[in-house]
Amino acid sequence: HAFDDQECDYLFKAVLIGDSGVGKSNLLSRFAKDEFRLDSKPTIGVEFAYRNIKVGDKLIKAQIWDTAGQERFRAITSSYYRGALGALLVYDITRRSTYENIRNWLRELREFGNEDVVVVLVGNKSDLGSLNSRQVNEEEGKAFAETEGLCFMETSALQNLNVEEAFLHMITKIH
Ligand code: GTP
Ligand code: MG
Repeated sequence: HAFDDQECDYLFKAVLIGDSGVGKSNLLSRFAKDEFRLDSKPTIGVEFAYRNIKVGDKLIKAQIWDTAGQERFRAITSSYYRGALGALLVYDITRRSTYENIRNWLRELREFGNEDVVVVLVGNKSDLGSLNSRQVNEEEGKAFAETEGLCFMETSALQNLNVEEAFLHMITKIH
């Protein structure tokens, strides 16, 4: 990216959360490197990526943390959330259980996270939405986000739909 070597005005941390397999790591690699892998492996521990973004006349360096959805691979929860100003809370529109678990992720985020963390609820894999595989309607995601005061977006890391928008929405709401 064009700004990589410049000095930034702000540095902030954001986290990705959600069940294993919903596409957190691919959303991040799409946003940070414009890469996607159909055969990606479950994340073990914590990984992170940076991307510099220009908002108005400020240069913002976003440090985005990605951890395992699988409990046994997760790193210490409190340090993962500590200092995060934004969160992408991700489910998979083709697996209803991942949507139902959003409540638990939100509870954990509110327990360990910053009080005024900006949260975007993300229904990922929208590219599969036109097949018979959709298990969560867009309206359900939208309605749930509204009751919880979150922003909402459906994305596809595969087709690069709304990925940039979801991250940028979170980033610009912080600043
Ligand atoms: P954990 O690291 O175990 O928590 O999983 P994760 O949430 O990081 O999921 P990951 O990004 O590894 O993606 C899991 C699988 O879903 C991979 O096979 C990806 O290729 C696939 N996937 C991710 N995003 C999309 C998408 O937008 N559309 C489709 N069709 N597949 C996707
Ligand atoms: Mg992962």
